[in-house]
Amino acid sequence: MSETSLFPQDFLWGVASAAHQVEGNNVNSDTWFLEHLPGSMFSEPSGDAVDHYHRYRQDIALIAELGFTSYRFSVEWARIEPEEGLFSLAELNHYRRMLEACQEYGLTPVVTFHHFTSPRWLLGIGGWEGPRTAELFARYCDRVMAHMGDLIGVACTLNEPNLPWLLKSFGIGGEEPEDRGSAPVWAAAAERLGVPASTVAPFQFSSTEVAYQVKLAAHRAATAALKARRPDLMVGWTLANSDIQSIDGGQEKADQVRRDVNERFLEASRGDDFVGIQTYGRTVYGPAGLAPAPEGAATNQMGEEIYPQALEATIREAARIAGIPVIVTENGLATEDDAQRVDYLRAAVGSVEACLADGIDVRGYIAWTAFDNYEWVFGYRPKFGLIGVNRDTQERMPKDSARWLGRCAQDSRQARSETAEQDELAEQGELARHA
Ligand code: BGC
Repeated sequence: MSETSLFPQDFLWGVASAAHQVEGNNVNSDTWFLEHLPGSMFSEPSGDAVDHYHRYRQDIALIAELGFTSYRFSVEWARIEPEEGLFSLAELNHYRRMLEACQEYGLTPVVTFHHFTSPRWLLGIGGWEGPRTAELFARYCDRVMAHMGDLIGVACTLNEPNLPWLLKSFGIGGEEPEDRGSAPVWAAAAERLGVPASTVAPFQFSSTEVAYQVKLAAHRAATAALKARRPDLMVGWTLANSDIQSIDGGQEKADQVRRDVNERFLEASRGDDFVGIQTYGRTVYGPAGLAPAPEGAATNQMGEEIYPQALEATIREAARIAGIPVIVTENGLATEDDAQRVDYLRAAVGSVEACLADGIDVRGYIAWTAFDNYEWVFGYRPKFGLIGVNRDTQERMPKDSARWLGRCAQDSRQARSETAEQDELAEQGELARHA
């Protein structure tokens, strides 16, 4: 980082989590239900996760102590509305207490209203292709806002609504509704829910045109609900943004995927207060489709190329297409080698700095993820955390990467206030000379 910081004083330096990945026992969610089906795509169940549900206070204190200024987490619809129309005051109070803890420790809370998981009952009425889903989601958002909206710093409606199209471009999922019945897991889900398999449409796995429309409507209705309670609140959604590139012969395919996965969602973000960018690497297309990682390239725990430069490209793409402020709401690396993570974060922070230097309005850098946690279908094996967790004792163990990024946050604030002081002194000197 340069000595005179380009990072604004109120820049959000944070770490992120998502309820289902850290809380534990999210038993009324559709994901918990899917984890326990025969033929489940989840390699292991989430179980107790890292028990953040009970340990949030110490966790928030630790994040603040490490030097961060912001914490992004999600409130869980499946807890707050465990049956359609039944809202739990106890759970609403739980999340209010989390927000109070953030305020107490000086962290700006960035709250995600939906991070992949939905109540199980929603899956029985069409999930993210259901005709009432947008309206039901907005009603839930309104309840949350009424209960704790005054404490929220920044609001994210939906996390990665575009993910299913990215996964489909990798050849994962994306069955047409009429084909779902032939996949054992969807057939089992349909049987237990007592609905036709064609209607089983969870958020992360449905990539139909109807799902696109429902998500767009849900985002718009939720934004209106949030703004109705707090017109001043910054509201946006967060997108999965791969840096989509091509080599000879792959341009047409790359253009099409870029359009489906990135551009149309960025265009739909116009008019929002910000767009959240979540980048992990690049996707390269060649004449035979997806190109393998270059020979000898270092890879993450999922076998993908480590390519931190992707972030600069996706921030620039977002700013150019959406034309609104950008917050990096996720960026990180799955590795057991924390020194590799420090290098990755250093490169990422450099990318943000380069964008700021060019006048791009970037408001925050929030790393994925606070704690080693439940990485969805991959279970607990990938280690994205800046803080390690012993899941037998639930002991938290900050890694060097957490210390490095926390210090970076503090240094940038320090440099910024020194710059501001120097500017003020220079201005006073100027005034004195003219007096
Ligand atoms: C999601 C996180 C996930 C991360 C790493 C993003 O797609 O929002 O929930 O853990 O990427 O895969």
